[in-house]
Amino acid sequence: SNNVEDATKKLTRLLLENPKSKVIFMVGAGISTSCGIPDFRSPKTGLYHNLSKLNLPYAEAVFDIDFFKETPKPFYMLAAELYPGKFKPSKFHLLMKLFQDKNRLQRIYTQNIDTLERESGVSHKYVIEAHGSFAENHCTECNKMYKRDVFENKLKEYEKNPKKENLARCKECNGLIKPNIVFFGEDLPSRFFENWDLDLEEMEKESSKEQLIVIVAGTSLTVYPFASLPIEVPKTHHRALINREIVGDFLKEPRKLDIIIKSHSDEAAQIIADELGWSKELDALMEK
Ligand code: OAD
Ligand code: ZN
Repeated sequence: SNNVEDATKKLTRLLLENPKSKVIFMVGAGISTSCGIPDFRSPKTGLYHNLSKLNLPYAEAVFDIDFFKETPKPFYMLAAELYPGKFKPSKFHLLMKLFQDKNRLQRIYTQNIDTLERESGVSHKYVIEAHGSFAENHCTECNKMYKRDVFENKLKEYEKNPKKENLARCKECNGLIKPNIVFFGEDLPSRFFENWDLDLEEMEKESSKEQLIVIVAGTSLTVYPFASLPIEVPKTHHRALINREIVGDFLKEPRKLDIIIKSHSDEAAQIIADELGWSKELDALMEK
């Protein structure tokens, strides 16, 4: 609609008027739904709705470490559904890659475990996988680290034959092995805090107020500490929200400088690319 276009143009005007400005993205499952990966909390289509078939005490138990040790099956089912390698990046992911190529990317903070930021070609140094990934595993009892394929191979066996013997177990202590995905109650990776400190320090400089622009996209902003990132952005800085619904701090503490783009993330990505003159390059990336 026109509202979406007008709001998106507010954002692109800011980017055009400040040709050296860089963007800090904060993203969630909504940017990957067009890749065929369900988000968590959308009614009817979200993973937490689908998991209700499994009689979980509550949906988020799938990411609860004590529940996992007793009942690993729901997490194995979720892992089978989300496992990286089956999906291609969305238009929004490729737009973020273009921000990198144009030297306009400061950082991507992602809650997603689908690794589509990396697969779209964004360098690891820009990507903060706040909720971890399937790239490594560890034993839930003794913390011994295991390579990616240790869990992956067992997951494949378990998918074919969901028996206890087919769960990934530690060589040393027989504890359950799980991917380094952040469960509730577990710490986020130290890279998350280290980089956020650096970015925040930059934003606290008066001179950066139009040089660092925050874009939050495809997240319900319900899970902390991630949801506190937009709250901590200094009030001197612009925050844009690209989401189907208005969420989190954008709803609770709206600011004068906020830009609300209530839309599908790929639709907004296309308008941004058009306005910045990047649409041919975006098309080329989409065809790859
Ligand atoms: P949610 O499922 O909570 O929120 C997704 C948001 O994206 C919702 O507000 C949707 O309306 C919106 N949305 C969906 N499709 C969209 C689209 N195509 N365009 C624009 N918006 C769209 O997902 P997250 O906020 O990412 O934890 O969830 C946060 C964390 O909760 C996840 O990282 C996960 C879960 O527990 C772990 O994986 C450890
Ligand atoms: Zn062990």
